[in-house]
Parts: sequence; structure tokens; C-alpha cells
Amino acid sequence: MYTRCRVCAGKVREFLDLGNQPTANGFLLPEEVDRERTFRLAVGVCDECAMVQSIEDVAPGVRYHSGYAYHASGSAGHRQYFARQAQRMLATELAGRSPFIVEIGCNDGVLLEHVAAAGVRHLGVEPSTAVAELARRKGVQVVTEFFDERTAAAIRAGHGPADVIFGANTVCHIARIDSLMRGVAELLTPGGVFIFEEPYLGTVIEGRAFDQIYDEHDFYFSVTSVHAMAQRFGFDLVDAEHTPLHGGEIRYTLARAGTRTPRPAVAHLLRDEQVRRLSAPETLDRFGTHVRRVRDDLVTLLRDIRDRGERVVGYGAPGKCSTVTNYCGIGTELVPFVCDSTPAKQGRLVPGSHIPVRAPEAFADPYPDYALLFAWNHADEIMAKEQRFQQSGGRWIRYVPEVRVD
Ligand code: SAH
Ligand code: TMP
Ligand code: ZN
Repeated sequence: MYTRCRVCAGKVREFLDLGNQPTANGFLLPEEVDRERTFRLAVGVCDECAMVQSIEDVAPGVRYHSGYAYHASGSAGHRQYFARQAQRMLATELAGRSPFIVEIGCNDGVLLEHVAAAGVRHLGVEPSTAVAELARRKGVQVVTEFFDERTAAAIRAGHGPADVIFGANTVCHIARIDSLMRGVAELLTPGGVFIFEEPYLGTVIEGRAFDQIYDEHDFYFSVTSVHAMAQRFGFDLVDAEHTPLHGGEIRYTLARAGTRTPRPAVAHLLRDEQVRRLSAPETLDRFGTHVRRVRDDLVTLLRDIRDRGERVVGYGAPGKCSTVTNYCGIGTELVPFVCDSTPAKQGRLVPGSHIPVRAPEAFADPYPDYALLFAWNHADEIMAKEQRFQQSGGRWIRYVPEVRVD
């Protein structure tokens, strides 16, 4: 249990407990149900550096392994987004002579496939072997390791220093962030940059996206907390910009202290978070009250629908779906199954709540009265694809930022 901050050893104050939860991407076969483990899912804020973080630790090997079910390329929106990010880095930080980029958590190669196609030196660091293999099939160079100071030193010894170290939706997954930061310091060229984009605390707290809280997320970054962390490890936060994935993230750029002039956006966003009192105790406590209300509203709605004899099907089985179903106590009696396009999840059960996952074809066979949109961050893509559902009288249920039926 963490009562001390993983970044600065300050005191961590717990502000929300979402109960006992399984690992959110541990989709199970029916015969594996007895072996499922759970952990207390609670989050707190550091008094000293404002880093919001999980209270309990789940060993990385329990979360990331051969069967890790998240495939980043599963969404057209994500594929397009990372293709653009790759092109942008190729045109800027990777435009010099013989540049080298290391990606922490390259998953199925959604970003690096474009770097590989451009013939630029790269290395993905990806411990989950099955997704790493998918990346290799796209021509991406991958080592199946956890990134830390030891792997960073080995990469430097074998390949030389990196001009860019990149991570998306991965840096906040690494509890030993001190080791990660020392690894980055070891591996980066003197003028290089560490760029990472991760779920934003503002989206979780102000956008009420409480389902972003699950075991994989050890940290919920803000510009304030990343700024403090950068300084502690000898870096400056030189840029910060809002990006659209997962309901709203921030892309942070760190450079060695004193090597680059921070863009005005950094000071602006820092001030803005202070004015909004983003990590103040009263803001975080208010969030807890709101989350409990959403839970009550959602369960009441689903029970009413069931009592009227109408059907609900879940749409999308992201990690977030584990948080919501387990926290709210939603099982097959309220949501008999959920459809998801990821083959690795189909035929399995949502962790903890054990709702079966079926292929998207099951959605229209026949259409339910309501669809509970767990993959709400892909709402535009999904609703465009499923127009016939609404045309045939079906209605979408959302619960972020509050319960709403469309
Ligand atoms: N970058 C992709 C994938 C994010 S999922 C995207 O933005 O969609 C997070 C990935 O990080 C998983 O594939 C997981 O296996 C990997 N991962 C977890 N811990 C890691 C570590 N210490 N080093 C490198 N990768 C890690
Ligand atoms: P994510 O929110 O972590 O990106 O996960 C989204 C989940 O939703 C993932 O398991 C894939 C699934 N999904 C569908 O089933 N259909 C879709 O059209 C999209 C975009 C995602
Ligand atoms: Zn701290």
C-alpha cells in the first residue's frame, strides 16, 4: 500500500475508493473464473507534488503478459491519430541525420509501423509478447522487456542514445516511474526529447471520467505534477498540449534542464490548473460525491429497463468497462453481454463482472432496446457505424460525465 508518493515520497491522501477490482484487461475464459485475483482500487493525491496516484500496487507481470488483450490498432481513430503523430515527429525531432527513436509500450506497432516504413531507426520496448509479435509482423523492431533504467542502459549500449523517447498511454502505467525517469536520463541524447501523452487528470476529475481509473493507471498526470516530476529528475517541461484520445489527454515534452526554452503553453496551463484548483482537496472530494451519484443513477436506470422487460447490450469492452461494472455491481442480470471488435476479448468474460464478450455481429441479432456505451471515447466512430441501431428505435446510454439516454 502506498501512503508515500512514488515520485517525491510526500504524503498521499486517499480521496476515492472504487472497491475490490480485478486487472482491467484480464479478460477470462469461463474456466479461469476461480483463479481471478482482485485488488483494492483507490486513488490519492500527494500533498507535496500534487501527483494523483493509485494507492495499491499490482505487480507489472500480473497485468502485462502474453495474453494482454489491448490492441491499439483496434480503432480507426487511433490508427489515424498515431499515423499523424509519427509523420509529425519524422518531420521535426526525427529530421536530423540518422535519428533514433525508442517507444515505451509500442503495443501492436500502431505508431512505429510508420517510422519503420520511413526507414528511420527505431526500437519498441513492449513486454506483452503477443502484441509485440503483431508489431514485428509490421516490420517494427521490438524488444520484449519492461522499460526501466536497466533496459535503458542496455539499449544505449547496443544502439546508442535516442533522439526521441516516446510513450503513449504507457508512462502512467509504470509504477516505478523513478526508474523510468533515470532510464530516460541515461538513454536520451543531450539535445533529445522525452514525449509522452497520457490520460489527463482534468478529464478524469472535471470531465467525470471515473472509469479511467483502473489498475493499469498508476498515475493521473496533470501539468502541475509532471512539471514537478520533470524538475526532480533533471528535466524541464518544455511543451504541453491537449490531445484527443481517451476523452482528452495531454502530450508532455521534456528536455534536459536548460537545453530548450519552454513554450508559453506550459506556464499558461500551470496557471490555469491553479485557478481551477484541479488537485485541491475540495475538488477531489466533490468528484468522489459525483461518482457515487453516477453509480446510483446508472444502476437505477438499468434496473428500471430490466423491470420493463427491455434489453440492454454493452458496446465496447475497454479496460474502463471493468471499473464501471465492478464498481456499480453490474452483472449479466442487467447487461447479458457486451460486443467488442477485439478478437482477443471475444469468447471471454469481462474481468470481475464476468459479462461475456461477443463479436460486434451479435449486436444486431436482434438489436437490443438500449446499448450501454462503455467505449464512450469512441462514440463518434461507433455511432456512425451503428446508425441503423438508432434508426430502428434503439437508444444509447452514457454515464460520462453523467447518466444520459440519447
Ligand atoms: N501506445 C499504445 C499502447 C498503450 S497500452 C497506445 O497508446 O494505444 C500500454 C502498453 O504498455 C501495453 O502494450 C503494455 O504491455 C506496455 N507496457 C506496460 N509496462 C511497460 C513497461 N514498463 N515498459 C514498456 N512497455 C510497457
Ligand atoms: P479503448 O477505449 O481503450 O481504446 O478501448 C476501446 C474498446 O472498444 C476496444 O476493446 C475496442 C472496442 N471497439 C469496438 O468494439 N468497436 C469500435 O468501433 C471501436 C472504435 C472500439
Ligand atoms: Zn509527490
